Amino acid sequence: AEVVIVANEQAAGELVARAIRNLIVSKPDAVLGLATGSTPLHTYRALARLLREDSIDVSRVRGFALDEYVGLPAGHPESYRTVITRDVVEPLHLTPANVRVPNGAVDTIETAGPDYEREITEAGGVDLQILGIGRTGHIGFNEPGSSFGSLTRMKTLTEKTRADNARFFDTPDEVPMHCITQGLGTIGRARHLVLLAFGSAKAGAIAAAVEGPMTASQPASSIQMHPHVTVVIDEAAAAGLA
Ligand code: F6R
Repeated sequence: AEVVIVANEQAAGELVARAIRNLIVSKPDAVLGLATGSTPLHTYRALARLLREDSIDVSRVRGFALDEYVGLPAGHPESYRTVITRDVVEPLHLTPANVRVPNGAVDTIETAGPDYEREITEAGGVDLQILGIGRTGHIGFNEPGSSFGSLTRMKTLTEKTRADNARFFDTPDEVPMHCITQGLGTIGRARHLVLLAFGSAKAGAIAAAVEGPMTASQPASSIQMHPHVTVVIDEAAAAGLA
């Protein structure tokens, strides 16, 4: 992987936003892989500004979210469908129908994974996948033990990840137990992976992902199999690298 150490989250957001802007200019129907959580927010904000400043046509840009909680009621403020609409589709003025999120409805959960895989394939695959990383070493919600070949499916969130995401909910109990997530195999098919991480809490996971042995107990280490990975991190997240 190419590792880029930046001064702060803003600088990372500018750098990654510029790369995405250039991708959209060269490929107006580019397919973006979208992460939720706090990490990519500066990227989305900077990208919205660049697209507006340069009046870039985004009507054909497509997007696929990495994951979704299982069992939240439709329209829940913290469902990733809602978050992607609020943080990505609206500020970037993307065409809503072009941006997909895995379906976390309980009654169709068996078919939701294969359906999502088909949609990604029919779109021609993801051009640029934005990734955050969890303290457990997850990318998407592929918690430790996820197979490197895994495709979109339901998973159980670890207690650590539920605790980390409790900040988005009124009480920790409200964080769903299950999610549907693109697999490590799904993520690995994207043509360019851009992994972002900030702060000392991510240093261990970043070191394991970039320099550790490839192992299912550090799911992000699967990026080492990929030919085109850019890791954009601040000094604190880089602290565990040799
Ligand atoms: C989000 C996702 C997760 C997050 C990770 C980091 O769609 O798939 O892997 O990227 O949990 O979360 P933050 O950015 O909130 O620290």
